[in-house]
Amino acid sequence: MTQATSALPRVLIVGLGLIGASFAKALRLSRSAQVFGMDAQPGVAERALELGIIDARVDSIETVPEFDVLLLAVPVLAMGSVLRSLQPYLRADTVISDVGSVKGRVVDAAREVFGDDLPAGFVPGHPIAGAERSGVDAAKADLFDRHLLILTPLPSSDPAAVALLTRLWQAVGAEVVSMSVARHDEVLAATSHLPHLLAFSLVDTLARESDNREIFRYAAGGFRDFTRIAASDPTMWHDVFLANRDATLGVLRRFQSDLENLAGAIERGEGKTLLDVFGRAKSARDYFTQILQSRQRHSDDTRRNLIVAPAPAGLQGTLAVPGDRSISHRAVILAALAEGDSHIRGFGENDDNRTTLEALRKLGVVIDEADDGEIRVQGRGLTGLQAPDSPLYLGQSATSMRLLAGVLSAQPFASELIGDASLNQRPMARLQVPLAELGAHLELTASGTAPILIQPGQQWQPLDYDLPMASAQVKSAILLAALCAGVPVRLTEPAPSRDHTERLLAELGCRLESRGNALVFAPASQLPPLNLDVPGDFSLAAVHLAAATLVPGSDLTLTSVGVNPSRLGFLDILKDMGGSVVMSNIRDQGGEPVADLRVRCAPLKGGSYGTHLSGRTIDEFPLLFVLAALADGESCFAGLGELRFKESDRLTRMLEGLRLLGADIEVTDEDVRVRGRVGQPLDGGIVDCAGDPRVALAFMVAAQVTRRPVIIRNAGRVLGAYPGFSAAVGQLGYAVTLED
Ligand code: S3P
Repeated sequence: MTQATSALPRVLIVGLGLIGASFAKALRLSRSAQVFGMDAQPGVAERALELGIIDARVDSIETVPEFDVLLLAVPVLAMGSVLRSLQPYLRADTVISDVGSVKGRVVDAAREVFGDDLPAGFVPGHPIAGAERSGVDAAKADLFDRHLLILTPLPSSDPAAVALLTRLWQAVGAEVVSMSVARHDEVLAATSHLPHLLAFSLVDTLARESDNREIFRYAAGGFRDFTRIAASDPTMWHDVFLANRDATLGVLRRFQSDLENLAGAIERGEGKTLLDVFGRAKSARDYFTQILQSRQRHSDDTRRNLIVAPAPAGLQGTLAVPGDRSISHRAVILAALAEGDSHIRGFGENDDNRTTLEALRKLGVVIDEADDGEIRVQGRGLTGLQAPDSPLYLGQSATSMRLLAGVLSAQPFASELIGDASLNQRPMARLQVPLAELGAHLELTASGTAPILIQPGQQWQPLDYDLPMASAQVKSAILLAALCAGVPVRLTEPAPSRDHTERLLAELGCRLESRGNALVFAPASQLPPLNLDVPGDFSLAAVHLAAATLVPGSDLTLTSVGVNPSRLGFLDILKDMGGSVVMSNIRDQGGEPVADLRVRCAPLKGGSYGTHLSGRTIDEFPLLFVLAALADGESCFAGLGELRFKESDRLTRMLEGLRLLGADIEVTDEDVRVRGRVGQPLDGGIVDCAGDPRVALAFMVAAQVTRRPVIIRNAGRVLGAYPGFSAAVGQLGYAVTLED
C-alpha cells in the first residue's frame, strides 16, 4: 500500500441499492477513501465489484472493526436490526452514519440498540437526492453532485466524526448542511413527504374516477409536473409515512384545513380569498425559483478553475481597485436607516455587497443605481423597514447576515435569514449571545448556525459586553442593533478589528468614545443622509502588493486605496519582512483615510507576528503565508483560530495547497509556521480553494513565481468577489485564465 492510500479512511457501505452504490461509486472516483461494500442480497456486492463501484467486497460482519466509517444505506425500518447486528463489532471511534429520509426514527432505533449512551461516532445523515431507477446497476456517480446532504449531529456526536463525514460527502459533490433531528423531520415532512402524499393521492383519485383512465389522454403539463413523483417507489414511501408519522400528520392537518378554506371560498364565490392565497403562493414560489437559480449560478461559477502561469515579466502599471467591501455593506445599511436620500459613489459591485443591497430592497428600501455607479438610497429611518414577505437569502455573505441580523433584531417584525451551504455552517451563536443580552430574540439551529429566526417583542437594556473574539462583524451587529433600539452599549475586544462602522456612525452624528480599551456608544435618535465616496478595497489591493513584491521587475501603483489603520496589519507585516511599499497623497474620504500605494519587488525575510495583529490582518493571512514561503528564514503567525470560520477553513486550505506546491508549512490549532525557501521557486500543480475567493487569490499570487503553471480548482467566485478581475489582472501583466 502506498503512503497516500494508507492515510485514506476505510469506508464500508452497508446496502448497495441506488443511494449506497452511487455514494460508493462517487467516493471511489474522488479517491478520498477506500471503499468497501456489503449487501444482504446475494450477488449484489459481487456485482458492485464487477462494475468497479467498490474496492472490495465484505462478506463477514466480523471484519467491521477494520473500518473507520460505516454508512448504512438500508431502509429506515431496517435500521434497528442492522445496528443491532453491527453493535458487537464497533470500535470506540467508528463513525456511523446513514442515508435514511426520516431521522427521528433512526435515532429511536439507535437508542433501542445502544440505550441512552449513543456512540460518539454516530451522526445521522440524509442526502436530498434520488432517481426513478433503483439497484446497483443504476448507480450514478453524479447523483449527489450539487445536492444537499443534511447531517443531524446529536449532543453525543464527536465533532471529528461530523468533520470526517462532511469531507466525504463534499468529496462526492454534495453541499453539506447540518440541523437538528426534529427540524430535519419537520422540514422534510413539509417539502418532500407531503408533496409525495398529495401526488399519490391525486393520481389515485383521478385514476379511480375516470373510465379506463381516459382522462390521462387529455392531461397535459400541469398534471405531468404535479404528479411526476407519484411514480416513486411505493414501498419506500410507505416506510417514510410510517416512520415520520407525527411530523407528516402535523403538516397534513394544516394543509387539509387550508384546502377546506379554499373549497369554502370557491363555494361562496369569494374571489378575494382565492386571489390572496394564489398571490401569496406565487410570491413564495417566485422567491424559491430565484433561490434555485442563484444557487445554480453560484455553483456553476464556483466550479470554474483558474489557470495561472508564472508572470512573464514584472507587474507594471497603475490601477484603481474596486470600492471597499466592508465599507460598502455598512454605507448602504446606514443609508437605509437614515432619514432622506443618501448618495454613495464607488459602491463595491461584488456579490456580497449586492446581496446586502438586494436584501435591503426586500425590506422596502428604494435604491436607485445610476449609470455612473452612484447609488441613491431612500432612507426609511431606524425602525421603518418593512417586514419581508419571505426569508432573506444571503448567499455566501457572512457580513450581510451578521450586520442585517443586528438591524433586524431591533425592528418591530419577525424575519428569517438564510445562506448557502458555506454560510449556513458558520458560527452565529457569537451574535445571538450579545444581542440576547441587549434584549433581542434570535433563534438558531441546534449547532448555533443559520437559518436565523428573529422575533419581535424585544425588551431592551443597556449592554456592557466583552467580545470573546476580535470580530468586526459581531461588533457592528451589536452597534447597529443598539442604534435601532436607541440603547447605549459598552464593548471591549480582545484585539482591535476594523472600525468602519464606528467611523460612519461618528460621521452621522453618533457619540463614540474610547475609554481605556472599551468602546462606549451612545446612539443618535435619527441619522442624517449619507454622502460618501467609498475608498478602494485594501484587501484587494493587498493581492497586488503581495504579487508585485514577489515578481522581479515589478513596479505598481494602486490609487485611492483605503488605509484605515485597523485594516493595515498586512502592510505592517509586509514592511517588517522587507517589502517596499510607499504611501503618498494621504487624504480623508468620508472619515476614512485614503492613499496611493506604490509597490516594488523586494527580497523578504521571515518574522514572528503575535495575536494582537490578527484582527487587523484577518483576511490577508493567506497572502502572508505565501510571502513567508518565499522569504529568507522562518516565519510564525500566532492566534489565527478565526481563519477556520471563514468562507472555508483557511488554515487547512492554505496548508494543503501550499504543501502541494512544495512549501514548508505547519499549522497547529491556531498558529502557522512557515520555513521560507528563498531563491528556490515553488512547484506548479493543482490546488483547491474550495470556493473561497481569498484562498484562490493567495494561490494566484504564489503561482506568479512557480516553476510551472498552477491550476486553482473551484475558483470561479473570484469573479464575484473582485469586480473587474479579468481586466485588472490583464492590465497589470498577470498570466491568468478562467476555465469555462
Ligand atoms: C468583515 C470582518 C471580518 C472579515 C470579513 C469582513 C467586516 O470578519 O474577515 O471579511 O466587514 O466586518 P469577522 O468579523 O468575522 O472577523
